[in-house]
Amino acid sequence: MAEQPRAIYLKDYQVPPFLIDTTELRFELGDDHTLVRSVLKMRRNPASPSRQAPLDLHGHESLELCRLAISGQVLSPQDYRREGESLLIRAVPDEFTLECLTRIRPQDNTALEGLYRSDGMYCTQCEAEGFRRITFYLDRPDVMSVFTTTVEADARRYPVLLSNGNPVASGSLEDEGRHWVTWQDPFPKPAYLFALVAGDLAHIERPFKTASGRDVTLRIYAESRDLDKLDHAMESLVKAMRWDEKVYGREYDLDIYMIVAVDFFNMGAMENKGLNIFNTSCVLASPETTTDAAFQRVEGVVAHEYFHNWSGNRVTCRDWFQLSLKEGFTVFRDAEFSADMNSRAVKRVEDVTLLRTAQFAEDAGPMAHPVRPASFIEISNFYTLTVYEKGAEVVRMIHTLLGPELFRKGSDLYFERHDGQAVTTDDFVRAMEEVSGRDLSQFRLWYDQAGTPRLHVSDDYDAAAQRYSLHVEQSCPATPDQAEKKPFHIPLAIGLLGPGGRDLPLAGGATTEVLELTETKQTFVFEGVAERPVPSLLRGFSAPVKLQYPCSRDERVFLMSHDSDGFNRWDAGQALAVDILRELMDQYRAGRPMQLDCALIDAFAAVLDDEALDPAMVAKVLTLPSEAYLSELSDEIDVEAIHEARQFAKKALAQALSGRFERRYLALAPAGVYAPDAVQVARRSLRNLCLSYLMALEQPAQLARARAQYDDADNMTDRQGALSLIAHSAFGAEADAVLEDFYRRFERETLVINQWLAIQASDPKPGALARVDALMKHEAFDIRNPNKVRSLISVFCNQNAVNFHAADGAGYDFLADRIIEMNRLNPQVASRLLTPLTRWRKYDAPRQALMQSALQRILDSGELSKDVYEVVSKSL
Ligand code: ARG
Ligand code: ZN
Repeated sequence: MAEQPRAIYLKDYQVPPFLIDTTELRFELGDDHTLVRSVLKMRRNPASPSRQAPLDLHGHESLELCRLAISGQVLSPQDYRREGESLLIRAVPDEFTLECLTRIRPQDNTALEGLYRSDGMYCTQCEAEGFRRITFYLDRPDVMSVFTTTVEADARRYPVLLSNGNPVASGSLEDEGRHWVTWQDPFPKPAYLFALVAGDLAHIERPFKTASGRDVTLRIYAESRDLDKLDHAMESLVKAMRWDEKVYGREYDLDIYMIVAVDFFNMGAMENKGLNIFNTSCVLASPETTTDAAFQRVEGVVAHEYFHNWSGNRVTCRDWFQLSLKEGFTVFRDAEFSADMNSRAVKRVEDVTLLRTAQFAEDAGPMAHPVRPASFIEISNFYTLTVYEKGAEVVRMIHTLLGPELFRKGSDLYFERHDGQAVTTDDFVRAMEEVSGRDLSQFRLWYDQAGTPRLHVSDDYDAAAQRYSLHVEQSCPATPDQAEKKPFHIPLAIGLLGPGGRDLPLAGGATTEVLELTETKQTFVFEGVAERPVPSLLRGFSAPVKLQYPCSRDERVFLMSHDSDGFNRWDAGQALAVDILRELMDQYRAGRPMQLDCALIDAFAAVLDDEALDPAMVAKVLTLPSEAYLSELSDEIDVEAIHEARQFAKKALAQALSGRFERRYLALAPAGVYAPDAVQVARRSLRNLCLSYLMALEQPAQLARARAQYDDADNMTDRQGALSLIAHSAFGAEADAVLEDFYRRFERETLVINQWLAIQASDPKPGALARVDALMKHEAFDIRNPNKVRSLISVFCNQNAVNFHAADGAGYDFLADRIIEMNRLNPQVASRLLTPLTRWRKYDAPRQALMQSALQRILDSGELSKDVYEVVSKSL
């Protein structure tokens, strides 16, 4: 292998030796190659201590340097040196103009970073370090420049030419059939926010007046066949803009805001200034093709990217170690937005489920890192659940500690003070400290210490003194490079349930109190408590921790029916189910017949009978903990026991409660025209959940019911819900028939066909790997399209544990082969595929050996990208 990639460290940060005041770009897009001309007005950074430093520009190996000039003087090859990703120019004056002509080949770019052509259109993805694949530059977020961009291309094939900012000029080169447009972005920005789009695109448009009365044009672009699927994204955008004005006092700042939908995209979406580029899966939506969950995802992602205009663009990151500065804050903002638009409790349940399942697993694995990592080899590997989701929890904890008013004051101060700057998470916390007068120095450990803290809670009650005491002990397991952890500053929201399940009044008469943990061991005393209460701990999941409290099944049932905190009511049900599923797993492993504790049946019956509850919450409560969550909770993951116990419980619940499931299924039948609104979404989610229990009965009558729902559905939620139940059922012929029908109906809808791939990839029945293998050769599959790789390969490896973890190791071999193949085509996607193999330490010895040898085979396979090398080498 070539030289091993080196890690870079936060502690080595230095201010940039040079600044780029203005950046002029001209792109000549051509079939054989694209020419990029850049004119950069540069000067030495007065804040840099190194007055003599040479100019060290970033430039990817794939760049072909055609011409280089400094203040009009063409440089000869002796004047500069290219080495790896750097272009070193030794002697430069204090102030100069750098002119550069580079040749690139976007049509051959399968990594989908920088400028690439896919499906006949050009687009860019520059975050984090993609701009260096376009031209030589100071590709770091603390170098901010005013960009003027001209795009020139064939007029017939690329009628739409877009870049950041406002269009200021255009023209045509008539004899050549080409045309050009010039865009100017008045806001200085780092190169990672640069964007360019060229293609034959249709769009919808809407005017928007900001709170202070400025007129803005909103435009969403897509291929013309998808023009009818853009309205939901547009409505979401308008809602997000209004919400940010109201909740954060933030207005939009350019004359035009554009979103472009692209089918080949590594991530969800990208917040480029004034020109967001989106994965089609996060923009397109129509009732016939899109599930309720996907409608909500579109709303959330559109809002997320919009919110970045302030939390990310106007105020950006100093360096990539600060990524959570913009991502954690923006995820917190979009979560609050979604909570306001839909059901707050349901949104919280979904976010915590993701965090506890996947982020906690990351925190416990070899890639564990703090919200602000201390080092990395490849930054793309750090767009993680820890930086995004745990980062959002850290911001939420500040919100909890300060309260909404002070938090808003803090965000106002942060935006005002740092507008136009590239800053750090410390700057964010400092603004919060200043407005509140609080000392958050211990709290900052959340940014620097990896791992999921554990809380051990016990209590005692002194009847004579009417005194109740909570004893809390915190600890945090070791993570790579961090053996010892200091105690965290943890907001622990609690309530005390008295007789009959009513909240006891706590400090100041409130029913929820936020206890602040700062020490390893603490005791909190509550006076005047007339009877032993049942504590409701960690209300609303007030901190990203694992909490243990010895709670009986009866107490969990009590909390499930009485807790005034909706999140904790759900969580009590989950804890009860986990407890009972673990008992079933023990029975399964011991070879004894499994027997489901009636407590779960009775609790579910009560919830099903309570018509006053929000059906969406009922659906959440009645959803058994996922195999992935049960795996995360296990010290050693027993793939079969988890699957068998869960299947058994599902069927036993279905048998015991079939009448109730049937009654609610019928009562929730669709009424009226489809709309993805909260009320309807809630009804469909519960109805489809009821159907999933009824299908667990494995009866022909239920199969017929599911098939009727599939045939009669006027929306994708109901159709796909029925489809996946039938496809995963034991009724083989019917499964094949419905999959065939679905394919023929939606053959031309790429995103729908991706769901078709995913449903087959997640089928727990034996033989799934052979099916996935066959689907890789299907016309609907394309290994260069990340959405397809995720739908087929990632879903199989992450959502089909019994097949992926087959004892013979065939699943691991399959994945290793795909990673070796993807490593060459698309390193970012290849690296993400590795995740399930990195968890090898949690499996039995034979599987550990097989997973390790799959990793070793990848490591030995030849030239690895930095992305794949980093994850494999840290995992072995
Ligand atoms: N900033 C984008 C977002 O979260 C994500 C871009 C990720 N890009 C990457 N190459 N990892 O909205
Ligand atoms: Zn983001």
